[in-house]
Amino acid sequence: FKVRKKLVVGNWKMNGGLKRNAALLAGLAACGNREGVDVVVCPPYPYLAQAVAAVKGAGVAVGGQDLCAFKDGAYTGEVSASMLLDLGCAWVIVGHSERRSLFGEADAVVAAKVQAALDAGLSPILCVGESLAQREAGEAEAVVCSQLDHVVDVLGAERFAGVVVAYEPVWAIGTGKTASPEQAQGMHREIRMHLERRGVAAEGVKILYGGSVTAANASQLFAEPDIDGALVGGASLVADSFSSICAAA
Ligand code: G3P
Repeated sequence: FKVRKKLVVGNWKMNGGLKRNAALLAGLAACGNREGVDVVVCPPYPYLAQAVAAVKGAGVAVGGQDLCAFKDGAYTGEVSASMLLDLGCAWVIVGHSERRSLFGEADAVVAAKVQAALDAGLSPILCVGESLAQREAGEAEAVVCSQLDHVVDVLGAERFAGVVVAYEPVWAIGTGKTASPEQAQGMHREIRMHLERRGVAAEGVKILYGGSVTAANASQLFAEPDIDGALVGGASLVADSFSSICAAA
């Protein structure tokens, strides 16, 4: 099969400011144009234009952290796929666990958003992952497979091949508790096998790991055969750390 090129995505979450971003973005210019790894930064909506301008020509792509599945219209506070595209985004994160748990995004909404992203020509990064309670109850794989199924059901197997999956165990997000490389690899393998069972050409699907990825643990994670890159939160706010993670990929 074709070797999957690594992908490292920085999710700034709701952090930043014009001044701070300028320094961070200048530091990120060094991350791009590396062989073997694609790099994406996802700042909050108000800073997307700033980010697109700052990384121009640096081989770093820009993405949104969310989108609205509807087309333009009376949806106060929302941002559409075509707006992201218009600003110069090529990517969008969909279904992050913070969207699911804090903002009540159900699987059906997540699936509609992935579809809207693909329809517009954006590359969606679909986040899946279990909570600590679900893992302790032995339900981790079933939870993740069901999150995937909702999207495969809506898109169909063929279109799902255009989706990047990010496995982010909720207990590892922002906690400093990274999944061990073996734990992450185990779930990534399961995700790939499950997609295969659903008829998706899964060998070509990139599966990123997210949850307390740092410069110190990235290379061990990237050495696993089914870990195709990372979705990085906290460490993406520090240029040196993010650059080291990109270099490890
Ligand atoms: O989307 C990335 C994320 O949820 C992981 O955050 O801070 O644990 O790297 P963090």
